[in-house]
Amino acid sequence: MKGKAGKLYIGQKKAIKIAKERGTPLFLYSKTQILLNFYNLLELFRINTPLEIRICYAMKANPNQSILRILREAGAWIDAVSPGELAEALRNRFPSNKILYTGTSVSQEDLRSVFSKNGLIVNIDAEEQLELMKEVREKWFKNKKIKVSVRWNPGIGRGFNPKVVTAGKKSPDGTPVKFGIEEKQVISVFTKALKYGFIPLGLHQHLGSGWVKEDFEAVKNAVDKMIRKALEIQKKGYNLEFLDFGGGFGPKYSEKQKVFPLKKYAEYICQKIVQSDLKIKAIALEPGKYLVGDAGVLLLRVEYIKKSYGNVFACVNAGTFNTAPRPAIYTQAQHHILNCSNLYTKEKAKITIAGNLCETGDLFGKEILMSIPKRGDILALLCAGAYCRSMASNFNLREIPKEIII
Ligand SMILES: Cc1ncc(COP(=O)(O)O)c(C=O)c1O
Repeated sequence: MKGKAGKLYIGQKKAIKIAKERGTPLFLYSKTQILLNFYNLLELFRINTPLEIRICYAMKANPNQSILRILREAGAWIDAVSPGELAEALRNRFPSNKILYTGTSVSQEDLRSVFSKNGLIVNIDAEEQLELMKEVREKWFKNKKIKVSVRWNPGIGRGFNPKVVTAGKKSPDGTPVKFGIEEKQVISVFTKALKYGFIPLGLHQHLGSGWVKEDFEAVKNAVDKMIRKALEIQKKGYNLEFLDFGGGFGPKYSEKQKVFPLKKYAEYICQKIVQSDLKIKAIALEPGKYLVGDAGVLLLRVEYIKKSYGNVFACVNAGTFNTAPRPAIYTQAQHHILNCSNLYTKEKAKITIAGNLCETGDLFGKEILMSIPKRGDILALLCAGAYCRSMASNFNLREIPKEIII
């Protein structure tokens, strides 16, 4: 993506031309960017360790079929969270032994569906879930070899919004955190899993989503805790094949954001593992945002400029909830927005980008200093590759936009 003569180019093509040919609203994804992200992440770890690196794509970020194909061909694994995602991953020819299943509030039906597949790894999110797993295995899958890992809650969570902090006792706004197994239960869950006939292979944590630079110290502490816990498990005589550090790191969403130091994170994890006595074979990661976030843009057309009580609105032809709900749901979610038709003007103003849904919160961006758009201009919501289309709905019976990949 680049600017040339005041116009935004995506690949070799003008964004406004694509918008004209394919219509708006429209999601545009870049294959090149997805692959760059994938190989960059792989390389950051590979240069620091000979261990196998499993990049498990958190497909909840965007289950678009072309994206799944690109990542499968590149060698990615999958992080699936529901029977629907699992089925979609298999339909897109991910081998089941490259799938990690991480459910929450897991039902008997979910488990029957998951256990009917061979070779995948099922994450245990609660001791109570393990009891349910035992029941389901005994009833329908007697003696079946089922690989499992334990998702623990290391007591440290980080995320850009309290709703996506997934570890610790409570998230910063006091919300009780529902994920993972408490530290003191971890060993007993391993012991029980073995006793029930499962094959425990790994330890997993996911602290939250959308880390920034200042999260690094806390994340490092959580890495230390994970390694200490893994050593304790190993000392008890359980073989650990892999440690899964989850996702959480991602691209730069807004100009002000200080990005999380991914290179240092990779170095830190690898160094700590080398210095320890751990006998693991692989390191797993579960990036969603990192792989696809900055590989997508959402093109929107300005219908008119509305001025009211001193507010200036660019009213566009889509809503947040039916295209990119993040800015409406999470207060801190800011996506950079560009006027593709006119990137640079001396005259800038504070513009609020308003969607076409009946809700005051239906805003793609609030009072953004940008080139003043005019009717018919095309705006690009950047970093729209992750958790946009996958979280979209038909609210107000509006259609979900088409997606194309270039
Ligand atoms: C268990 C788990 N792994 C990975 C992810 C991906 O997170 P991110 O997109 O921030 O990398 C999530 C996101 O919700 C998750 O819950």
